[in-house]
Amino acid sequence: MQFSTKTSAPEKTRSGCAIVAVIGGRAGEAGAAIDAGAEGVLARALARGDMPTKAGSTLLVGTGGPSERVLLVSMGDGPGVSVKAFTDACRAAMRALAATAAKDAVSWLGEVQVEGRDAGWKARTVALAAREAAYRFERMKSKPEPGPRGPSAIAIGCTRGDAAAIGRALAVAAAIADGTDLAKDLGNLPGNVCTPTYLAQTARSLAREHGLKVEVLERKQMEALKMGALLAVAQGSEQAPKFIVLRYQGGGAKRPPIVLVGKGITFDTGGISIKPAAEMDEMKFDMCGAASVLGTMRAVAAIGPAIDVVGLIPTCENMPSGRATRPGDVVTSMSGQTVEILNTDAEGRLILCDALTYAERFRPAAVVDIATLTGACVIALGNHHSGLFARDDALADELLACGRDAADTCWRMPLDDEYQDALKSNFADMGNVGGRAGGAVTAACFLARFAKAYPWAHLDIAGTAWRSGASKGASGRPVPLLVRFVLGRAGAA
Ligand code: BES
Ligand code: MN
Ligand code: ZN
Repeated sequence: MQFSTKTSAPEKTRSGCAIVAVIGGRAGEAGAAIDAGAEGVLARALARGDMPTKAGSTLLVGTGGPSERVLLVSMGDGPGVSVKAFTDACRAAMRALAATAAKDAVSWLGEVQVEGRDAGWKARTVALAAREAAYRFERMKSKPEPGPRGPSAIAIGCTRGDAAAIGRALAVAAAIADGTDLAKDLGNLPGNVCTPTYLAQTARSLAREHGLKVEVLERKQMEALKMGALLAVAQGSEQAPKFIVLRYQGGGAKRPPIVLVGKGITFDTGGISIKPAAEMDEMKFDMCGAASVLGTMRAVAAIGPAIDVVGLIPTCENMPSGRATRPGDVVTSMSGQTVEILNTDAEGRLILCDALTYAERFRPAAVVDIATLTGACVIALGNHHSGLFARDDALADELLACGRDAADTCWRMPLDDEYQDALKSNFADMGNVGGRAGGAVTAACFLARFAKAYPWAHLDIAGTAWRSGASKGASGRPVPLLVRFVLGRAGAA
């Protein structure tokens, strides 16, 4: 999909579809200008009451003028519009647009006043909504699905002399969308295709195409590093584990890097503590943390901010077999701390803890791990916000703000020492599970024991990384949040 800017007047701009805002039941400036050249067809459609005033309602009207169609989008009662209402309305508009046969479209939504946001932010939000609506995953189908594919070009109307800033915002939006699509594709690929080896190959080709540095550690090297927790999860599977180290160096190595750590379980059967059959297919999404790190690295490399970022991906498969870890086995992590593996289905924290120890060598400014870690987080927060855990208030506030800005929100959860008691083991330094109560918190508490050398935050994306049911599929979250975080740290947001 091509993005561009348009500086011509709305009523003179040719397109398959003009997207215009409606506030308080009346078309905005752009819509009014188009309507003046179309004999008031828009005003009449609105007067008929065909479109509810609720933000996000849409109505498609044929005009026959330079704009073949006009898509009216309600932004609510106005005059000002909230960040959330604008974002939701853009998404609804782009879904409606994608269902038409329009080959190209021009958005005039930038004329809407959104609290505290500039023209660049609005253009980015429109562009990301367009790419979101255009996403298809057809790689495993024998032929493409029939039906409308949506427009292949979107222009952003600029009537306020802000075309240069909007052009830059569109380049950033395209990079974020490319990264998000990569994360979706990897998540949607089945476990028999998206193996640890496949993730490593993906990292290698990203490095080649975007000038990143890559290193892939094999089992032997993980043994030498004494990554006993990670290797305990990997040992039941025929698939070779990989530990991916991907580096973007835009900061001239002067400042300490940001380290992103992504959980890369390419399929989680639970191991010997095997999961029930229902919905087990969804455990192919258990590498969405890893996918979000790869997607973020791709986006960051394309944007090119002045900062260093390291992506760490411990990846393996969690399988039952004659070689698999037994409940009760005790392993020694890379940190030297011992762990009694009481439940082999709590495997994410075992691969992450060794990656968190490995991260120390980069002397990071901050480490953020991203993981589909617990079903308990889905129970706590549902599917809207990712769970955010951090001892560091400043880092937590920063990530919360990035999430709001990127429409990829998280919600802070507790991480008090009181919860640590649940991890007590009679046979090792700690158990790997704490019981059902506060399951997302005790999982984070486990990770906290390995993340003491740097400012650290943990994002539990079990509820946000994919959708279940009829529209089952990866969401690409939290790539937008993570890119926003990196750009903010680089002073380039
Ligand atoms: N990958 C799962 C978490 C998960 C489960 C995410 C369902 C989304 C939906 C993780 O490895 C896991 O199995 N966690 C266990 C932990 C428990 C054994 C303490 C869980 O959440 O049940
Ligand atoms: Mn599990
Ligand atoms: Zn898992």
